[in-house]
Amino acid sequence: MMLRDAVEADLPGILAIYNHAVLNSTAIWNDTPTDLANRLAWLRDRRDKSYPVIVAEENGEVLGYASFGDFRPFDGFRISVEHSVYVAEAARGRGIGRRLVESLFGPARAIGKKVMIGGITGGNAASLALHAALGFVETGHMPGIGIKFGQRLDLVLVQKEL
Ligand SMILES: CC(C)(COP(=O)(O)OP(=O)(O)OC[C@H]1O[C@@H](n2cnc3c(N)ncnc32)[C@H](O)[C@@H]1OP(=O)(O)O)[C@@H](O)C(=O)NCCC(=O)NCCS
Repeated sequence: MMLRDAVEADLPGILAIYNHAVLNSTAIWNDTPTDLANRLAWLRDRRDKSYPVIVAEENGEVLGYASFGDFRPFDGFRISVEHSVYVAEAARGRGIGRRLVESLFGPARAIGKKVMIGGITGGNAASLALHAALGFVETGHMPGIGIKFGQRLDLVLVQKEL
């Protein structure tokens, strides 16, 4: 398994992981799957801002990916980013999520970012444990601010000083 910058040829793999999370989990608060054009626009937007999109690849297959974007679109938030990480179901528990998130710290520091923020759905034990293991601390808990599969969702905010 290797980590590297995403290229456009990775987008079908990224799309499959993303849509699996949309359809089968509360990790992404969308109800309907997206398409390749949406992920292409997303990749180009990240590149335009010099923000990384890192994929974990093995034998030509995308096993996971991580990236960060702006936390909120106001000048004062420019020292902070919000990241995301997804690992294909069959590849979980092998340390890939940990390596993907760790791979974002250097690029974030290199462009002057000071804080990395994760927005995690309440009850996502794997993500909460992964982020705690990487030194993220919980700094917010917003009960019931979302809804999916007929259930109200909590948002847990975690952050790490870079
Ligand atoms: C969260 C996610 C990215 C973790 O990826 P992963 O590759 O399986 O995680 P790793 O193997 O790197 O595990 C790293 C640490 O996370 C924790 N962890 C991972 N899976 C866990 C689980 N199911 N239960 C409890 N802790 C878990 C452990 O602390 C683990 O450290 P350890 O190996 O020393 O015990 C993955 O489960 C995933 O993609 N889930 C669906 C999408 C999602 O929730 N993304 C995050 C949105 S905020």
